[in-house]
Amino acid sequence: MLLTDLKQKLDSFPHVNLLWGATPIVRAENLSKETGVELYIKRDDLTGLALGGNKTRKLEFIMGEALDKRCDTVITAGAVHSNHALQTAAAAKKLGLDAVLVLRGKEENKGNLLMDRIIDAEIRVYDAETSRELKSYMEEIADELAEKGKKPLIIPVGGSNPTGVLGYLKAAAEIVEQSNSMGLDFDYVVSPSSSGGTQTGILLGLKILKPKIKALGIGVGDPRDELLNDVATLIKETAKILNIDEGIVSRDELEACTIDGYGFGGYGTIVKEVIDLIKYIARQEGFYLDPVYTGKSFYGLMDMIRKQVIPQDSKVLFVHTGGLGGVFQYEDIIADML
Ligand SMILES: Cc1ncc(COP(=O)(O)O)c(C=O)c1O
Repeated sequence: MLLTDLKQKLDSFPHVNLLWGATPIVRAENLSKETGVELYIKRDDLTGLALGGNKTRKLEFIMGEALDKRCDTVITAGAVHSNHALQTAAAAKKLGLDAVLVLRGKEENKGNLLMDRIIDAEIRVYDAETSRELKSYMEEIADELAEKGKKPLIIPVGGSNPTGVLGYLKAAAEIVEQSNSMGLDFDYVVSPSSSGGTQTGILLGLKILKPKIKALGIGVGDPRDELLNDVATLIKETAKILNIDEGIVSRDELEACTIDGYGFGGYGTIVKEVIDLIKYIARQEGFYLDPVYTGKSFYGLMDMIRKQVIPQDSKVLFVHTGGLGGVFQYEDIIADML
């Protein structure tokens, strides 16, 4: 499919504008010299909504759907440090909708939770081990609101449904457009992967537009089988709404481009190896990674370069998906590790 055709197709879905514009692609000069690969960063941490990050892109289409369906409230879920929850609250408030955040974890007035409170989202915290378990609470709240005459929309954890994936298909188109105009031919596009929507959008978008580029999603501690199944389902469902071949990415391909081994004991663990890397990258390049998503996946990227799984002289684009709030959510633990 041509770039213009994909862009036209995406434009035909209800959407709103939340991004400032195309996010910059910046060459990481010092790291490129040090590693022997040409390393570029797609600064999706600078999307412009609240603290920025990947969810802004998904929310352009999800909020488009909410307005199209005349919803007055959005409900979403995640950990107390959830970047997605904060982005959702910010998008909702900006568009005049209410936001209910269904969260799990230790309730402390810092990081993203503090930002959620500043923006006046309704916050309900539950006792749950995983964010998946929060689905039934979201459904109960939706029923409760509907009884009161409200029209809520449930947004799944991470905004990872086919509508949200459209945002990262648009990002893939943006990457192709920018790399064309910069005269760059990327070999790899690498991103963190947790609820799978970001990985799915990039993978599908590049498969449609530039199949030669390898789109790697690096897991951040969720069980591999769950991640693979989530991404496989999202690929199928998104292909369906785009009216393209549902088998466009084979299971073998998906397995090969879903990288694990960099979860450091599980989702949300804060570990010294990653904090050391965050310090190092901040000092080398002047930008900050977060301890839950981008820090772990960047660690994976550096390790794959070191082990030459990604060969020398490759052109690599890392998608910085944001998450700065996580640094402040875990400031005490991080400070102890500095
Ligand atoms: C900063 C950040 N990076 C990466 C991810 C992972 O994206 P996805 O849930 O689309 O896999 C998330 C959200 O879960 C996030 O908040």
